[in-house]
Amino acid sequence: MMNNSKRQGGFFHLPNDNMVKTIGVATLLCLLCSIIVSGAATLLKPTQVANALLDKKNNILAVSGIDLSGKSIEQAFTQIEARVVDIATGEYTDAVDANTFDQRKASKDPAYRVDLSSEQDIAQIGGRSKYANVYLVKEGDAIQKIILPIKGYGLWSTLYGFIALEGDANTVSGITFYDHKETPGLGGEIENKKWQASWKGKKIADVSGMPSIQLIKGIVSPDTPKADYKIDGLAGATLTSNGVTNLVQFWMGKDGFGPYLSKLRTNVNQASVVTTANIKEQG
Ligand SMILES: Cc1cc2nc3c(=O)[nH]c(=O)nc-3n(C[C@H](O)[C@H](O)[C@H](O)COP(=O)(O)O)c2cc1C
Repeated sequence: MMNNSKRQGGFFHLPNDNMVKTIGVATLLCLLCSIIVSGAATLLKPTQVANALLDKKNNILAVSGIDLSGKSIEQAFTQIEARVVDIATGEYTDAVDANTFDQRKASKDPAYRVDLSSEQDIAQIGGRSKYANVYLVKEGDAIQKIILPIKGYGLWSTLYGFIALEGDANTVSGITFYDHKETPGLGGEIENKKWQASWKGKKIADVSGMPSIQLIKGIVSPDTPKADYKIDGLAGATLTSNGVTNLVQFWMGKDGFGPYLSKLRTNVNQASVVTTANIKEQG
């Protein structure tokens, strides 16, 4: 039978229970599937990268306060100025292209990574990029909104988000978390729009410049001492809540955007002194 099949047409004419045919067909199938999967992955890569970028822009816009009605994400994003800040100095830098630089990737790149000591690393991120993206909404030269990337460890995962500050560089205008693996309904409530909205108007740093904003256990009421600096804790998720406090305090503090923010606050104060002087002169 086998000899007969071979004579009639080779491999595919072997009987189906033939060991060589079984292994051969399985191998061919595996090869075909791996070509299809790797081909699809390669073909879809540019689309995935473009979608990830669009999603990032969407998240930045979500906290920017920009009116999106009737506009595409790309159209609305033209109102945002992307800059890169040298975190240690708090100065803008042109060492990298602000439109393509991604500090999330850079934090893993030895060329940009700065390791943090355990004392510095309250957000439990191990290290950060030397440079960071910042996004500005401006009216003329005046900054209306400053949007800053934030990240830090919750209970199960690193939480990635953006915080938006008003032009005074101290009042929260919005916050969003777009990537995490906390439990839905518990730590996952960092995505809750109502909770996110409760951040609006809260203050970051006290008079000494120290980041004082924090999540408390329970609900903030008007009687809560220093209510301006307090945010409702997430019910049943104290560990994620602590993670959020730590990451916001890290990024608003001296090892995060602190130097940049204190420069902005000084500029705002100087501008208001000049404006007051002008008003007095005119009066
Ligand atoms: C399956 C499971 C998932 C949990 N997920 C979270 C979570 O995402 N974030 C969190 O802080 N706590 C989570 N917890 C609860 C924590 O273990 C811990 O009890 C809680 O943070 C304490 O918060 P509480 O003092 O507000 O109850 C989870 C617990 C279980 C059993």
